[in-house]
Formats: sequence, C-alpha cells, structure tokens
Amino acid sequence: MKKLPKRILFTIVLALFLASFFLMLYFGKETFYVEKQISSQQIYDYHFALITEEVGNDYWREIENGAKEEAAKHNVYLEYIGPRKSDKEEKLQTFDRMISSKVDGIITQGIPGERFKALVHKAVERGIKVITVDTDVPDSERQLYVGTDNYKAGYSAGQAIIKDTEGEIMVGAVIGMFDALNQQERLQGFKDAIAESDRIELVEVMESNITEIGAAEATYSLLKQYPQINALVGMSALDGVGIVQGIEEIHLDHTPYVLSFDILPQTLEMIDQGKIAATVSQYPAQMGKQAVSRLLDLQNGRKVEQMQYTGTGIIRARDIRNGEIIRKGERS
Ligand code: BGC
Repeated sequence: MKKLPKRILFTIVLALFLASFFLMLYFGKETFYVEKQISSQQIYDYHFALITEEVGNDYWREIENGAKEEAAKHNVYLEYIGPRKSDKEEKLQTFDRMISSKVDGIITQGIPGERFKALVHKAVERGIKVITVDTDVPDSERQLYVGTDNYKAGYSAGQAIIKDTEGEIMVGAVIGMFDALNQQERLQGFKDAIAESDRIELVEVMESNITEIGAAEATYSLLKQYPQINALVGMSALDGVGIVQGIEEIHLDHTPYVLSFDILPQTLEMIDQGKIAATVSQYPAQMGKQAVSRLLDLQNGRKVEQMQYTGTGIIRARDIRNGEIIRKGERS
C-alpha cells in the first residue's frame, strides 16, 4: 500500500483531534448544564396546593401573595391553581387531581355539595390535610377554616346601612354567586340585621358572577325594574365598583347609597370619591398566610383551633388617606 504523504496524514490527524475536541466540549457542556439544573432544583420540605375560586381575581391574588410569602419562609412549595373563570366543576376536578398527585396539604375555598365533602374525605383518608379558606363547609372533614365570619360580616353590613341612612330605604343586593356559601351567609346576616329596623327593606337580589361587568348589569336591571331602590349593597369583591358603573349608566336624579365588600384599591378610590359610602373589609393576604402556617402546624402534629377568623371592619372615607387605609375602621 502506498504510504500517505506526511502533510496529508498530519492534516487528517489534526482534523480528527479537533473534531473530538469540539465534541468533548459540546457534550461536556451539556453534562455540566444538566448537573447545574439538578443542583439548582430546590428540595422542599412540603408541597401544598392552594385552590382558588379564580386565578386572575385580585382578591384571590392577595390570598396567594400571603400564602406564598409564608411558604417561602418555611421551605414549602406552594402550587396556586384554579379555574380562569369561576367554575365549580373545574375546582372539584382540580381538588381531585391534587389528591392524586399526593400533595402534603390542600388549602381550598369551600364548595357547596356532596362531592366536595366526599373529596375532603378522600384526601383525609390518604393523610392529606385540608383547610378551607374564604368559605367554610363546616360539615365536611376539613381540619380547619381560615377566613371571614361571613354571617357576621353580612350582619355588620346591615348595621352599617341602618347607621348611615335615614327614612325609608329600599335595598337592591348584588351577590357574587347564588350558590356560593359565603354569599348566602353574608346575605342571611344582612337580612337579619335589617330586620331590626322597620324602615329598611330588601327588594331584590341579583348575581354578578363575581365580575365588575356582571355587577354593573345586575345594578342596571335592579334600578330599571325597581325604581324605588335607593340603596345598593355588593357582597363580593368586585361588586361595589360594578354597582357604581351601573348607577352611572342609568343617569338617576337621585344618588343611591352604596355599600360594598372588600378593600381592593379601586373600591377605596371610589370611597374617597364619595361614590361608595362604606365597605366591609376582609383580610385575604392574612388568610393565605395563616392557612399555610396552620397547615405546617398540622404537619408537625401541633394542636390547632378549628375556626380561625381573620377579622372584618367597616371602612369609610375617614379611614382612608391617599388610597391607603390608615385605621382599621369600625370593628364588626
Ligand atoms: C369573596 C370571595 C370571592 C371574591 C370575588 C370576595 O368578597 O370573599 O369568595 O371569590 O369576593 O371577587
């Protein structure tokens, strides 16, 4: 066999060397990258799930923020999950999926009906702790509830309207959802409070679907159908702002009294502008924080109180400065 000239041989050897060198660099980098990914993956002590009513809702975002802050302090991985638009079926399915994925604890809004109770039972049987937040289902096997005393909050709304108004008052109420337990409790509390006065009457209740536009439409219908209505009450976080929009659309010659729920920035702004007279405050960030903290207590076998109320108050213009609450208002 003819010998290859030295120069060609050298070139081939050099090419082989360079090729293997670059291959080594490439695969070496890939290996290094994977290792780096693995080492940066945090090992958490617990995995909790927070099932929300609606992922994009500002009120639920505050619950999430409080929960995430607490989770970060205690090396907990918190999964925030729920439907984009409030949907009972999807919430129940998410609950079931979280049980199957064997999380350590579940924080969820209480949902009416037997299926919710059956799912809580399933979770508890599998050793998964369940806490209800914002809305309770006391006859389920959930370990505890963190949130507002909804009956009392509704009652204080009724007391506020008695205190703030004079003469005959015809009320139109806008509630988030007819089948939400917290809305039913607030409404019942409200009715019981105004029953103590003989000049205030609840004329009609309509649903907003927990949206601003829904509340505006409900208000419009209420005022059209019942021109005698001179006060409007909104029972979920976006209802107050929607009610004001509904009133502005209809151009009345009198300004109805408006009472709302929650202290989202837009609501506070409308109180500042005199469009909403008062709002019932809730403390969603506190609910999220406390729920995570109690789940940790349960994981560590500590004793916990079953009912953990986060408090409410009545906030009026005098309690707000530059869009911020400067004092907690009248306690309810
Ligand atoms: C209620 C929540 C509801 C939210 C809707 C709040 O007042 O407590 O249950 O999801 O309003 O915006």
